[in-house]
Amino acid sequence: MTEPIPHGIVDGADSITGIVLRAMARTPDERLRTVMESLVRHLHAFVRETRPTEEEFERGIDFIVRLGQATGPEKNEGILASDLLGVSTLVMLLNNAIGRGETDAALLGPFWRGNSPVCSNGDSIARDAREGEPLEVHGEVRDLQGHPVAGAVVDVWQASPVGLYENQDPAQPEHNLRGRFETDAQGRFHFRSVKPAGYPVPLDGPCGELLRAQDRHPYRPAHIHFMISREGFKTLITQVFDNSDNCIAADVVFGVTPALSGDFRKQANGAWRLDYRFVMQPGTRRIPTPPLP
Ligand SMILES: [Fe+2]
Repeated sequence: MTEPIPHGIVDGADSITGIVLRAMARTPDERLRTVMESLVRHLHAFVRETRPTEEEFERGIDFIVRLGQATGPEKNEGILASDLLGVSTLVMLLNNAIGRGETDAALLGPFWRGNSPVCSNGDSIARDAREGEPLEVHGEVRDLQGHPVAGAVVDVWQASPVGLYENQDPAQPEHNLRGRFETDAQGRFHFRSVKPAGYPVPLDGPCGELLRAQDRHPYRPAHIHFMISREGFKTLITQVFDNSDNCIAADVVFGVTPALSGDFRKQANGAWRLDYRFVMQPGTRRIPTPPLP
């Protein structure tokens, strides 16, 4: 059995933080030790600042327990909670920004499927005969020096004009509003679609209760997801948002950056058009595990 560390006995609220840190001091894994020491310091400071009552503490623990209970194959309430607190976006920004002009990353989200139909440039990803406002997307992919990135795979997915992904909506055909394109010799790709609508995050769990208690709306501004990959480059996972959406500056999960605010323009022919330049950073091509089959 591990020898006990004589970390001391608690003598009042001021003494406990140092005692807990001493109790964890010989954690062999250096990273685990660093993370847990920081967690305890910040958690204790939070408790000292907010001074929860015992009833409030019980409610907090119950909230965490219910995050797990509300999580299943269809929904991850733990990820949603970190999204709503801005933590998911913060972690993603800290891990992806090199600040050399690359396109901002954004969250993968829960709706990517790994087997989207392979399409040719110019194809439509709107596989549903019902009408939406037509949209043309013209993208180009460059490296940090501004050279075109040819042969990159561009996986796109978006919600419908009523704000639902096809896997959420039995009325939509399989793989509606999903497709995989490849950039041409000039690094360009284009496709036709319908204008997506914004949508709410799931509200049937503890996260929905929290949003209501905070008088927050649940919506994300309309957006299109892109995953762009090619050997020699870090896979770019991002979202481009419709800057005319009235939630553009009020994304419930804080994914919008100035650079990802896309200019959806109405053309003379009545169709919307989005032009967007993506800039990839060198690195390793890595494709995430699809959250959906
Ligand atoms: Fe989305």
